[in-house]
Order: sequence, then C-alpha cells, then structure tokens
Amino acid sequence: MSQTGNNERAVFATRFGAIATTVGSAVGLGNIWRFPYEAGIHGGGAFMICYVAFVFLIGIPLLCAEFAMGRGTRSNIFGAYKKLRPTHNWHLAGYIGILASLLILSFYSVVAGWTVEYFISSVFGNLNFSDAEAGHRLFMELTTGWRPLEWTIVFLALNFLILIGGVTKGIERASNILMPLLFVILIAFCINSFTLPGFGEGISFLFHPDFSKITPSVLLGALGQAFFSLSLGLGCMMTYGSYFKSDNRIARTATTTAVLDSLVAVLAGVIIFPAVFSFGLSPEAGPALVFEVLPFIFSHLVGGGVWSALFFLLLFLASLTSTVSMSEISITYFCEEKKWSRRKATIVSSLIALAGGVLCALSFGPLSHMKIFGMTAFSLFDYVSSNICLPVGGFVCSIFVGWFVDVRFLRGQIKMHSTAGRFVLRLLVFCLRWICPMAILLILLNSVGFIG
Ligand code: PHE
Repeated sequence: MSQTGNNERAVFATRFGAIATTVGSAVGLGNIWRFPYEAGIHGGGAFMICYVAFVFLIGIPLLCAEFAMGRGTRSNIFGAYKKLRPTHNWHLAGYIGILASLLILSFYSVVAGWTVEYFISSVFGNLNFSDAEAGHRLFMELTTGWRPLEWTIVFLALNFLILIGGVTKGIERASNILMPLLFVILIAFCINSFTLPGFGEGISFLFHPDFSKITPSVLLGALGQAFFSLSLGLGCMMTYGSYFKSDNRIARTATTTAVLDSLVAVLAGVIIFPAVFSFGLSPEAGPALVFEVLPFIFSHLVGGGVWSALFFLLLFLASLTSTVSMSEISITYFCEEKKWSRRKATIVSSLIALAGGVLCALSFGPLSHMKIFGMTAFSLFDYVSSNICLPVGGFVCSIFVGWFVDVRFLRGQIKMHSTAGRFVLRLLVFCLRWICPMAILLILLNSVGFIG
C-alpha cells in the first residue's frame, strides 16, 4: 500500500498486491480450522454443496457490492453508507460490523494461540503419536486450564504491535510469499491423502451429498461459513475496496478471491477427512477436529516434525493477516468517525478484544461451566458473529446496493477498466436484488423456527 499525493487514504500499489491482500484476509483459520469442523458436524457433502452454492450465489455478488461501495466512496463502512444515502440510517449497519469484528477477534485469537502451542510442540517433537487417545489428550492438555490464556494474550499483543507499528505493509509483503507456500504445502498433504486407507471414505463423506441431510442448521452453518471465510458482511472488504485503484477490475478480483479461498477450504477438507476415516476418528469432533487429526498425518510422514512446524507457522501467519484486517474495522471507525488518534483507536479496540479473548480462552477450562443459551463464550461468540451478524450485515448491504443506490453506481464501478458485459451486470444486479436478500432472510427465519 502507498499513500496518494493529496489524499490521506492509502491505495494498493499493484493489482496483484490488492488481490494478495484480500486473499490474505480471506484465507486463514476459517478455511483450515473452521471449514473442516463445520463440514464434519453438518454431514460433509450436504454442507459442502450448500457452502459452494452460497459462495457463488451470495459471496461473489456481495464481494462486488462491498468493493464497489468502498472504492466508490473511499470510506469505511459508516462513511460508505452515509455518502451514498446521507439522509437515512443505513450506516447503523456499521455497528453490526464492529460488533462482529470484535467478537471474531476474541475467539480467533484463542485458536491462533493454539497454533503457536502446536508449532512449539512440533519443534520439540511432542506431536509424534499414533493413537487417537493421545491426540485427544494432547489437545485437552494444551487447550484447557489457564494455559491458552497466555497464548491468546501473546497473539493479541503481536496483532497490536503490528497495527500500531504500521508494519502491516511488512506483513502483507511477507504474506505474498508465505501464502503461496502454504498453498504448496496443502497440495503436498493432499497428495499424501491419496495414500491413506480411508481416502475413498473421506472423499465420499465430503463430496457425496446426502440431500436428506440438508436441514435449517446445515443451511445456516454453510451460510455463516461462507460469510466468515470470505470476510464478508462486516465492512472488511469494503475497507479494502476503498484502497483499490481505479484500474482494479472489481468483478474479477471478487471472483479470484472467492475461488482461491474456497479452494484452500476444499484442500483442507481433502487433507482432513481421509485421515479422519483412516485413523478411526470421528468427523464430529468440533473445534478440536483439525488439531487432533493433523498431528496424526504428520506422524505418518517422513520428516513429520519439520512439516508440522512449517505448517503451524504458516497457519499462524495466515491468522495474523486475517486478524490485522478485522481489527481495521473498529480502528478506522474510531479514527474516521470519532476522530481519535490511530494509537488510541488501536489501544481501545485491542483492549475490548482482550476482554473477549480472556472469556473465550478460558471457555475450555475454568469457564467451561459458564454457559449462555447452552453455549460457552467461545461458541457463543462464534455463533453470534458468523451465523447472525455477518448474514444480517450482508442482507443490509445487498438490499442497499440492489434497491436503494442508483444502479448506475454499481454499473460504473464494475465496468471501470473492465470488459464485464451486460450479462454479468444483469446477473449481478439480479443476485443483489433477489437471491442474496431472499436466501439470507429465509435461512435466518428458518433457523429460528418461524417457517418450515
Ligand atoms: N476470513 C477469515 C478466515 O477465514 C476470517 C475473517 C473474518 C477475517 C472476518 C476478517 C473478517 O480466517
């Protein structure tokens, strides 16, 4: 990113940089940790087919809408709504985005902390085991008690230092190299999956949809996962869009981001499920799934310790590029709307996330009995942000761009420096007007039991 002459806002220097940074925000624990566990508890293939449908029918159109709003107004989520419709209260959607970003940051930091634990264990050779019980015991040992609190704090402190030190650029540059490396490693692990005895069973679990298993909760889970994984519905992609240059082809950037992001999730699934069935584990292990299964895969690989250390290090860095992007939402709000200094905005946002992070970190140990609606703080924060706040934010955005903003605005943004034809534009407007809001509304209502 570089500063433009008389304009305060930064812009991405190159088109590649813009794509790499949006992919950097999208690819993270959502793909590698959350996708397999959500697919596992929601029946595999049934979840997968809904997820892919939502990425294409809802995700890509909404990415285009968020990018267009950001670049067209050069503002954060509040400013974007206000500039396009000054007389109404649409900008209140920004508060949903801030709430979601802080909730996500809280539990995300805990899981990022686990990756540090696993990285350290790999370096010291403690991840080498061959029975399912041992994997479970290690996960419990590392994630219960007070221990995760330390790593959550360390992770949030690192995130804070990156934000305050303005080294975001360094992180971006590093991720331009490290993300492709993560991709290569995932492909290598995928190839290894072919050799496992449970390959066929794992693949059929993930790709063979049993339509009778598509329930309201599967639909909601897949919708929430699509939003979470694409960093959608909270203004994150809007803020990134505001840094795009005018030669950025929005529709293409949106499609590339969605395809790469989904590819990483599918690769993660192809790695995890064959191993689950080969080693006699359960796909329904929830948040523990990936952390219990991966060490198994590593202990069956030549040089497993090195693979495992490298993998957890890259996963940790992928989490950082995501948390840096989600932190920007509340920081830009405080800076641009409340006129706070960046320092104060960063400190306040980080302290709020820290308070949430403490609750989530202790959810598996000392605070495991503290439940609201039957969920621990960790599960509640995840559920409320991914399955409620993000879809609601996306619903508001699609209605806004589809119905309340002059269609020439969207057309202008999409057509800028692009050869996107009439068909693409019509399809996009149709999705934003009808498919996105109706699908989101139906799924949300259905899951609270109003209909169906
Ligand atoms: N998309 C990120 C991931 O998959 C998480 C994220 C959500 C990042 C919301 C920014 C905003 O890990």
